[in-house]
Amino acid sequence: MDWHRWHDGYGPGGGLLARLALVQDQLSQVIIEAPPGPIMIISVCAGQGHDVVATVAESPRRTEVRARLVEADERNVVAAGAGSRRPASAESRWCTAMPARPIPIWVRRRPGSSCCAASSAA
Ligand SMILES: C[S@@+](CC[C@H](N)C(=O)[O-])C[C@H]1O[C@@H](n2cnc3c(N)ncnc32)[C@H](O)[C@@H]1O
Repeated sequence: MDWHRWHDGYGPGGGLLARLALVQDQLSQVIIEAPPGPIMIISVCAGQGHDVVATVAESPRRTEVRARLVEADERNVVAAGAGSRRPASAESRWCTAMPARPIPIWVRRRPGSSCCAASSAA
């Protein structure tokens, strides 16, 4: 699977747009209903962050969100504009699956899986 091309489905008329709207709605609701205080989001297999970035940016609780977006394919991190289109909170950041600098997240590939599991110390 070319995970960069997969995101073509988010283009105009793309087949992923309905799915995206559902995921954004659900995430938005979870953020709103979260107990008071910091809201930690770990998006494992984050892709270009379409599901998380805009949702957090538009949330009335965006300043309480600390997001970690974990993505293995550097092309997707670049396409997301990790420098300019950041997650809304200053505490939020992108990392690749094998981060070069210490951040409070561990990522490992699950045996037999193309994806990974993560846990956080935060
Ligand atoms: C189906 S896409 C989902 C992207 C995003 N969550 C969305 O819904 O728009 C899955 C993503 O997982 C990434 N991925 C696959 N294996 C991974 C791994 N071991 N660690 C981090 N990301 C991984 C792929 O590069 C791909 O961008």
